[in-house]
Amino acid sequence: MSVAATEEPVRTMPPAAAQAPKTPFLRMDNVSRHFGSLKAVDGVSFEMHAGEMRAVIGPNGAGKTTFFNLISGLLPPTSGQVIFEGENITEQPIVKRVAKGIIRTFQITEILPDLSVFENIRVGVETAEKLNSKPWISRSARAAVNDRVAELMKIVNLTGKANRTVGELAHGDQRVVEVAVALSGRPRLLLLDEPTAGMGDTETDHMVDLIRRLHQDQNMSILFIEHDMDIVFGIAQHITVLDQGRVLADGTPDAISNDPKVRAAYLGSIE
Ligand SMILES: Nc1ncnc2c1ncn2[C@@H]1O[C@H](COP(=O)(O)OP(=O)(O)O)[C@@H](O)[C@H]1O
Ligand SMILES: [Mg+2]
Repeated sequence: MSVAATEEPVRTMPPAAAQAPKTPFLRMDNVSRHFGSLKAVDGVSFEMHAGEMRAVIGPNGAGKTTFFNLISGLLPPTSGQVIFEGENITEQPIVKRVAKGIIRTFQITEILPDLSVFENIRVGVETAEKLNSKPWISRSARAAVNDRVAELMKIVNLTGKANRTVGELAHGDQRVVEVAVALSGRPRLLLLDEPTAGMGDTETDHMVDLIRRLHQDQNMSILFIEHDMDIVFGIAQHITVLDQGRVLADGTPDAISNDPKVRAAYLGSIE
């Protein structure tokens, strides 16, 4: 018996929605941020799609961190627009952007060094679930928080260090705690500013493996700043090169590594 005969005819045309151009997940339109006469970010336009793993590279002082600050909302732009999922968020403060899932890693100084790994992540989960303003938490809500903390510790491979005081952990583990706290906010766009800075080889491998798993297993959109070109070319699907506040090049790893402007200005010197 033919099963196909009972089914709807096969579509020969894709549905209209599939033909329409996709709304970019994150778009920056001619964004600038000046500090006095210094143009830290100078007329940058940029597009990123959902589920992308994208690196931002460029020499020190190129404007990479400032660019991230404009996305997270830490700084308002001097001019230009920031559009997230079609919505103009240029004027929105950090908290509103966090609620939309635009989350940067916290600096180590924002992590609570006297508390354990478990407690730090718990504070993150309670904040994300808006439980920390309540005078008491029900037993079921407490159990749900504990389950979520356990889940996050498992994702970042820190279950075995749950009760360790964060201030006494190795640098690499502290940065992984930062990522876990960021994950507690359920990021849709995760911003990582030099996630492997100051790490040894083993710690770097763990962080890179974590970033790769977040992208592959959870389809998370990740934008990261990184100096180590092995990491950049190892995991990024797209690379944006900033130089003196401007986009020098933007494209796939292949296109970037073959771009004469990039080679001349940047990559050539480290080969
Ligand atoms: N808050 C600030 N006030 C004044 N100048 C700043 C500020 N933040 C960054 N800058 C300057 O902007 C330029 C770009 O800095 P930054 O975005 O940190 O670059 P990168 O992260 O690529 O190294 C640098 O010249 C830096 O000194
Ligand atoms: Mg920086």
